[in-house]
Amino acid sequence: MGKNNLPLNQEFTLELSKMLSGQTTADIVVSVADDSHLAYVETILQTIADAAAVRGTGIAKRSPEYISMKIREGKAIIALAGSEFAGFCYIETWSDKKFVANSGLIVVEKFRGCGLAKRIKQRAFNLSRERYPDAKIFGLTTGLAVMRINSELGYKPVTFSELTDDEAFWKGCQSCVNYDILQRTGRRFCLCTGMLYDPHKEKK
Ligand SMILES: CC(C)(COP(=O)(O)OP(=O)(O)OC[C@H]1O[C@@H](n2cnc3c(N)ncnc32)[C@H](O)[C@@H]1OP(=O)(O)O)[C@@H](O)C(=O)NCCC(=O)NCCS
Repeated sequence: MGKNNLPLNQEFTLELSKMLSGQTTADIVVSVADDSHLAYVETILQTIADAAAVRGTGIAKRSPEYISMKIREGKAIIALAGSEFAGFCYIETWSDKKFVANSGLIVVEKFRGCGLAKRIKQRAFNLSRERYPDAKIFGLTTGLAVMRINSELGYKPVTFSELTDDEAFWKGCQSCVNYDILQRTGRRFCLCTGMLYDPHKEKK
């Protein structure tokens, strides 16, 4: 295992992609998306679908209309290298705005490994705090990178019982390849780890 806790071949690929990209995240602008970014919707969805196919993991499918709506509502974060799409994430509220989830995080492969996901998640976190200061912020993930970023932001791992019980949120899991596990366990466990930031608990 290497410094990212990955098998050495994956560690090598991650480090190599950082070197080859020659990119620093300073070249990339991370901002709240607006109508001028609607042209990126297809690219965003295709990039998310391609990444899920490579990882062989589950994914909650989103329609172009849904992503467009998030952009129009000012609830999405987009990263651009000039006019080239580099990354994305959006926020959505559940349980009558008591919970906010940061979802759909994606970084284009050639821009990975140089802290871009961290910047996107930080912006999405700030946006969530600005718009919904009393809401608990949560996410479901199987990815170590996201767990690390969430931990840095002050999220804690929790059981699913601590997350929203909003049926509409869990419905999103139906399109995941692992949905049968969630069903079998009565929605108590699955392959994802639930992580939660509670604004009412002091950040350590
Ligand atoms: C996961 C993903 C968003 C990470 O993007 P990124 O820009 O490379 O991430 P960052 O460079 O900001 O790295 C954040 C942290 O994760 C670590 N990390 C990055 N990629 C990693 C990997 N594949 N495995 C383990 N750790 C990884 C980094 O070293 C860094 O940790 P540190 O703060 O301790 O140094 C990107 O790989 C991706 O888009 N993957 C496909 C889609 C996906 O998995 N989305 C998440 C769904 S929950």
